[in-house]
Amino acid sequence: MLQLWHGNSMLHRLLGKVALITGGASGFGECTARLFSRHGAKVLIADIKDDLGESVCKDIGSSSSSANGCSYVHCDVTKEKEIENAVNTAVSQYGKLDIMFNNAGIVDEAKHNILDNDQAEFERVLSVNLVGVFLGTKHAARVMKPAGRGSIISTASVCGVIGGVASHAYTSSKHGVVGLTKNAAVELGRFGIRVNCVSPYVVATPLAKDFYKLDDDGLSAIYSNLCGAVLKPEDVAEAALYLGSDESKCVSGHNLVVDGGFTIVNEGLCMFGKSE
Ligand SMILES: NC(=O)c1ccc[n+]([C@@H]2O[C@H](COP(=O)([O-])OP(=O)(O)OC[C@H]3O[C@@H](n4cnc5c(N)ncnc54)[C@H](O)[C@@H]3O)[C@@H](O)[C@H]2O)c1
Repeated sequence: MLQLWHGNSMLHRLLGKVALITGGASGFGECTARLFSRHGAKVLIADIKDDLGESVCKDIGSSSSSANGCSYVHCDVTKEKEIENAVNTAVSQYGKLDIMFNNAGIVDEAKHNILDNDQAEFERVLSVNLVGVFLGTKHAARVMKPAGRGSIISTASVCGVIGGVASHAYTSSKHGVVGLTKNAAVELGRFGIRVNCVSPYVVATPLAKDFYKLDDDGLSAIYSNLCGAVLKPEDVAEAALYLGSDESKCVSGHNLVVDGGFTIVNEGLCMFGKSE
């Protein structure tokens, strides 16, 4: 395959690939759609925010070197028919599906007492964050199996690694995504399909600002172990790019934690002291 090099960085790492990105109208999904497109992929954005999704697509399309390099499909990930349709649209429009990025997600209200959490709210979060990932994985596998290849990536979270960072529903849903990733990787590996997830630390997207009631400065001031590094949506997109590209051809069942070391240390018992 043709690889283009610019200085030391390889361009077009996804040349010829087709990617479907749920939650692609905003935040990590939008940023990943832009990066994937810059690397030569045809991108289908699937979201419920139609106006936003269409306008992101238009913007990507106008800066993309390939005609019709990005398109939009309405898709509520909690509805199987809509996920099925989004996957079928990728195949009918671009001929195949190489990368499925199950990224759509929501948070609930931060309630500090489990007694204030109700069942409907818990199920709503699980429905988008976990059932949505299950449906995306299932329908991506449906078209990737006959092709004998594919990369399925889901957005989990540091909340899928440790407890206490977000609500019970959100934390449960993200632990579920990590478990589903491993299970699906085991089943689908024999068909040449890789299944991985990305687990970001908090980034100032609309979702996180809403949950933590913080502005950009507030979020960047939150402790991360790695001095000087402030996580941006681009860092999450780069992780997805790696997992979607052939450079990760031997990586499957992996949870790629992008958190500046946030989850590797308990500050309460640390012989090196507190990071500034
Ligand atoms: N921002 C953070 O700090 C952070 C950290 C770790 C993980 N995450 C995860 O990253 C993912 C992306 O979140 P973000 O921070 O970019 O938030 P965001 O709110 O900017 O983007 C989420 C997108 O998902 C879409 N969406 C919501 N419900 C949907 C549904 N039912 N069907 C289809 N699309 C739907 C929204 O319309 C939106 O475009 C989520 O899974 C989130 O849980 C976020």
